[in-house]
Amino acid sequence: MRVLVVGSGAREHAITQSLIADSTVSEVVVAPGNAGIAQVARTVDLDITDAEAIGDLAVALDVDLVVVGPEAPLVAGAADAVRDRGIACFGPSAAAAELEGSKAFAKHVMAQAGIPTAMALVCDHIDQVGEALDRFGAPYVVKDDGLAAGKGVVVTNDRAEALAHAQHCLDTGARLVVEEFLDGPEVSLFGVSDGTVVLPLQPAQDFKRARDGDEGPNTGGMGAYSPLPWAPEDLVSDVTQRVLQPLIDEMRRQETPFVGLLYAGLALTARGIRVVEFNARFGDPETQVVLARLRSPLGALLMAAATGQLADARPLEWSADAAVTVVIASAGYPDSPQTGVAIAGLEEAARLAEVFHGGTTLQDSAIVSSGGRVLSVTGLGPTVQAARERAYAAVDCITLAGSHHRRDIAANVKD
Ligand code: AMP
Ligand code: GLY
Repeated sequence: MRVLVVGSGAREHAITQSLIADSTVSEVVVAPGNAGIAQVARTVDLDITDAEAIGDLAVALDVDLVVVGPEAPLVAGAADAVRDRGIACFGPSAAAAELEGSKAFAKHVMAQAGIPTAMALVCDHIDQVGEALDRFGAPYVVKDDGLAAGKGVVVTNDRAEALAHAQHCLDTGARLVVEEFLDGPEVSLFGVSDGTVVLPLQPAQDFKRARDGDEGPNTGGMGAYSPLPWAPEDLVSDVTQRVLQPLIDEMRRQETPFVGLLYAGLALTARGIRVVEFNARFGDPETQVVLARLRSPLGALLMAAATGQLADARPLEWSADAAVTVVIASAGYPDSPQTGVAIAGLEEAARLAEVFHGGTTLQDSAIVSSGGRVLSVTGLGPTVQAARERAYAAVDCITLAGSHHRRDIAANVKD
C-alpha cells in the first residue's frame, strides 16, 4: 500500500519510519515533512491547514491511506476531505476532532459517557470566572476552550494570573474552562480506533515543562519514556474499560464516530484515574517512544482502523525494550524560537540512538533548525535507565548553538 503522512514534526518522522518498516507498505510520501524525513521518504510541499488541498494531494499521489499527524488539519476537516474522495484516512472527522478542538465539548462528552475527569465550569463571561475559581480553590486551572498549541492552559496559585489568562482566553476566543486541580503523576495512553473497537497502545509519560525539575513554562513536551515500571499493572485495561471504550461508544452514539488515534492524558490521583484532556492525534514526543517499542506492523494497523476492521486485528506485539526520548529545543523555545541555526553531530548521534527531526530544513545543503522542537533523540535499552543513557549519549554528540534540553528526562524512574 502507498501512504501519505501529513505533518512535519518528530512525531511524523517516527510514524514514517515505522510505516517504512512495514513490508506491506510500498511507499511513504510525507507532506510537507522536514530535512530528516526527506532522508527516508519522498516529501512534497503542502499547506496543512487546507483540508481540500490534502484531499487533492492524496488523489494526485494515488495513495491508499492518509495518516494525519497534527490536530489543526483534523479540526479543519482534512479527514473528511480525504474520505470524500474515496480514500481511507487514519484520523477523525472535523466533528469528532472537536474532542481536542473544544475543551467544553470534551467535558460534555465525558459527562455523557460517565468518564472520570476534573470537575469543571464553562465560562463565557469574565464575571463567571471569579466565582468558578473560588468554587474549586487554588491551585487554579484555567483553560482556553480552543486549540492553543500547548499554550492554552494556566495552572497557578496566583488568582490574578488566573483571571488574566481567563481574560486573554475571552479576548481571543469565546469561552474557557475553569476546573478542579488534579494532583498525581500524569500518563499518556493512546488508543487506535476504527469507530467501534479501540486497541490501547503502551502508556508513556511526557515532560511538559521547559526546564529540569518541572520548572519553566509549559511546552509541547520536552521528553518522554515508555514503559512506566511504576504504573499499576492493570492501568491499561482499567483505562481502556473506563475511559477509551466509553468515549468511543459515546462518540458513535452521537453519530460522530471517532476513527483515528484517541490520546487520553490522565492524572493518577489519590481518588483514582482522571482524564486531564483528550487529543485527537498521536502525541509528540510520546509517539517517538511508543512506536519505537511497537513490533506489530504500523501500516496494517492504521489501515485496519481506517477501514473499520480492527475487530479482526491480531493482538499488538511489543518489544521488551524501554525507550526514552529527549527533545533538543531552539534558543527561545517555547516563547520565540530562534531558527536557521546549523546543527552538527547528527551522524555520530544516529549511531547510538534514533534521531527524529522535528524542526529542520536544508539551507545550502546543510541541515539547520526551522522550529522550536528541533530534534527528538530516542534511545532504546533493556531498562528505562539503559535507554536513558543511550539517549543522552547521543544528545551529547549534537551541537546546536543556543539550544536547550532537559537533563532529567526519566531520571527518577526505578526499573
Ligand atoms: P492540557 O492542554 O489540557 O493537556 O494541559 C496541559 C497541562 O496542564 C497538562 O498536561 C497538565 O500538566 C496541566 N493540567 C491541565 N489540567 C489540569 C488539572 N485539572 N489539574 C492539574 N494540572 C492540569
Ligand atoms: N505531548 C503532548 C501532546 O502531544 O499534546
